[in-house]
Formats: sequence, structure tokens, C-alpha cells
Amino acid sequence: MKNPLHALNNYHKASDNSAVAMKVHLRQKILSLADRPVSVLDCYAGDGVMRQRCYEGLEYVGIDIRQGVDNLEYAQASTLEKYNFFDLDAYGSPLPLLEIIASKCKTPSYFVLTDGARLHVQTMHRLPFHIQPYVKGGDRRSDGWYRAYPGIVKMCVLEMFAKRDVSVRGYQQYTGLRKHVLYIGFVAC
Ligand SMILES: C[S@@+](CC[C@H](N)C(=O)[O-])C[C@H]1O[C@@H](n2cnc3c(N)ncnc32)[C@H](O)[C@@H]1O
Repeated sequence: MKNPLHALNNYHKASDNSAVAMKVHLRQKILSLADRPVSVLDCYAGDGVMRQRCYEGLEYVGIDIRQGVDNLEYAQASTLEKYNFFDLDAYGSPLPLLEIIASKCKTPSYFVLTDGARLHVQTMHRLPFHIQPYVKGGDRRSDGWYRAYPGIVKMCVLEMFAKRDVSVRGYQQYTGLRKHVLYIGFVAC
């Protein structure tokens, strides 16, 4: 049976990788916080732009649905113990995948996320399910959800780790020229 999380995770069509500069900057910042060698799991590896710009010379595994590897299935099936840097450059919400990784990763682990779900909510029937409990009626037509979205994502991330007694440090969140999209980095320790 198809994994129901796919509906939230799979956005095969998106316009571009136009925020490359922002993504590279964020990755360099989070890499600079690492006080040990990093081993990267690039969960939405795409054409390998981030690999070329940020991860040259590092231990690296990149997976992409286009090569037939689904990141949710991979994360569910793997122990993830050889990784300590997770790149979730999603078109939609990275939170379903993050939840799986948060339940297994060692500490410290380093994270960079792209959350493009705000862009897609208009065309989706519902808000991403991690966001729904924080929005009145779980309804995308509720007032204010759009502006509240970055804060809600932050709360979701902190709670995901807090319930496992893991702290989130150095949380940073940016929007680029495409204001709908969030770029997030942090350390779980
Ligand atoms: C924004 S692009 C990533 C760009 C990439 N970081 C780079 O540097 O080139 C998002 C990628 O996620 C992939 N993708 C979407 N859903 C996926 C899934 N469930 N598992 C693995 N990859 C997925 C898409 O095929 C697409 O290549």
C-alpha cells in the first residue's frame, strides 16, 4: 500500500532551485557549527547542486525519488546511525520526514530544511498535518495561518525533539526572494 505521507512529501513539480545562494549560505553556516566530521544524508538530492556547492569532500549519501529511492521509506528502513547531517530540501513540508529522522538520529546532529508547503497550501485541500493542530479548525481558510506559519513550523520542530529530550540549538529561519519558502537550520543536541 502507498505510504499516506507521500501526499505531503511528494512535490515532483516545482519551478526551480532559484534560492541557491540562500541555501548555500545556510548550509555553510550550519556546517561551520559542527565540531566533528560530518556525514551527510541528502534526502532530496535532486541534481546534486547542494552536493557540488556545499558537501564536496564530505562523507555523503544523496537520495531522490527520481532515482527510485523514496526518502520516507529509506528513513523508515534505515537506522540512520552513520549520518549526523541531514539535508531536507523539500518542495513541500519536510516535517513528516523530519519526524522520522528525529526519532532515530544521534546527537549532535545538524539539520537544514526547506519548507515550501506555504506555497502549495492554496492548491491543497488541507494544511500539512503537523500544522493543522495549531490552526483553528485545521482549515487553510482560517485567518492568520499564513503569517503564523513560520512560528508554527518552529514550534513543531522544537516539540519533535523536546519529546525525545533533545534540545534544538542555533535555530535559524529565513525567507528568500520567494517569500513563501522557509529555509531553516539548527543543531539537535
Ligand atoms: C528542491 S529539489 C532538491 C534540489 C537539490 N537539493 C539540489 O541541490 O539539487 C527537491 C527534490 O526532491 C525530490 N523528491 C520529492 N519527493 C521525494 C521523496 N519522497 N523522496 C526522495 N526525493 C524526493 C524531487 O525529485 C526533487 O529532485
